[in-house]
Amino acid sequence: MNPREIRPATYAIGVQDWGRRLFDALIPLPDGTSYNSYLIQGSEKTAIIDSVDPAFVDMYLDKIKGFTKVDYLISLHTEQDHSGSIPHLHERFPDAPIICSTKAKDLLIDHLALPADKLRTVEDGEVLSLGDKSLKFIHTPWVHWPETMVAYMPEQKILFSCDFLGSHSASSSLFDNNDPAIMESAKRYYAEIMMPFKVPIKGHLQKLRELDIELVAPSHGPIWNHPERIISAYEDWTSDRVDNKVLIPYVSMHGSVEQMVQHLTTELVKLGVKVELFDLTVADTGKLAMAMVDAATIVIGSPTLLVGPHPMVAYAAILANALKPKVRHLAIIGSYGWATQAEKKLLELMSNLKPEYLGAILCKGLSKASTLEELKKLAETIATKHKEIT
Ligand code: FEO
Repeated sequence: MNPREIRPATYAIGVQDWGRRLFDALIPLPDGTSYNSYLIQGSEKTAIIDSVDPAFVDMYLDKIKGFTKVDYLISLHTEQDHSGSIPHLHERFPDAPIICSTKAKDLLIDHLALPADKLRTVEDGEVLSLGDKSLKFIHTPWVHWPETMVAYMPEQKILFSCDFLGSHSASSSLFDNNDPAIMESAKRYYAEIMMPFKVPIKGHLQKLRELDIELVAPSHGPIWNHPERIISAYEDWTSDRVDNKVLIPYVSMHGSVEQMVQHLTTELVKLGVKVELFDLTVADTGKLAMAMVDAATIVIGSPTLLVGPHPMVAYAAILANALKPKVRHLAIIGSYGWATQAEKKLLELMSNLKPEYLGAILCKGLSKASTLEELKKLAETIATKHKEIT
């Protein structure tokens, strides 16, 4: 696609990556992604914000070949899917300083070998004039690296937010246009990338509320022409609010854990609690992460394999530990053949999480009547606790 004008003399110049299915060699991308970059022509100066993944550099450079004068290159975030083509931009526009936050300077040198004398740092609140347009840089550390910042253009009421408020979604649509599928992508993206940084993000959202924003132009996914959708969604996701929902990630090797999970689910549903099951042998880890965004309780189900939890369950526990969801309660259920340390090892893997621990129900082999009774009591405890907080 050619450069597309989003507002007079402000262009989207990024690329769509329709075929990408994995990010950071970890995160499933069912809808692909995009690497957005923007070119802003002011009456006196022209700036490019961010670049694209280096795999697309030839397409990118060809796309902007009609723009022969660029005065500033701006790096809002140094991760390579946005900064990776800046060395090529620097070759094309060698006189343009590369604008970045103070913390980004070393990262750009370390990751991309950019020349230090071409890097110009900006302070929080600093304004860069382009003539009839300007960019105010607002430092927003930890969305999701330490050096991240956003840029606000008051003349056109556009917030260039880089990773912040983005969505992994390839699309021919320039704008979100209230498409529910984009919100789904945005929630998945938040869960996988932003959720561990709820606390700083809450502070950044308060700063954004002071701005008059008509467009949020992120570095992934369509531009939000209904910015309230994504800003209020982030306010909700980072809030203390949780859903009356139990998430059960589990593996069953011989049917015993499956029996426990199904019994617990039946009891929870009877009590009006929503349940989401994730058989980890087939589950989309992105969906699992999304479900963690607002679930009040996680119940992990694991058979015992070589004394410890099943490795796929251990993986889910490590993922939850890294993503730090706002879950309020945690329980473990499972089975074993002759001995188990699954509970101890799973709790060790989730040491970052601080929910109320409701204990473990572990049975030797198949569930007994007493096991089913314990599961029923666990369901009652969860339902009671949910009534207090949702
Ligand atoms: Fe889209 Fe943190 O890179």
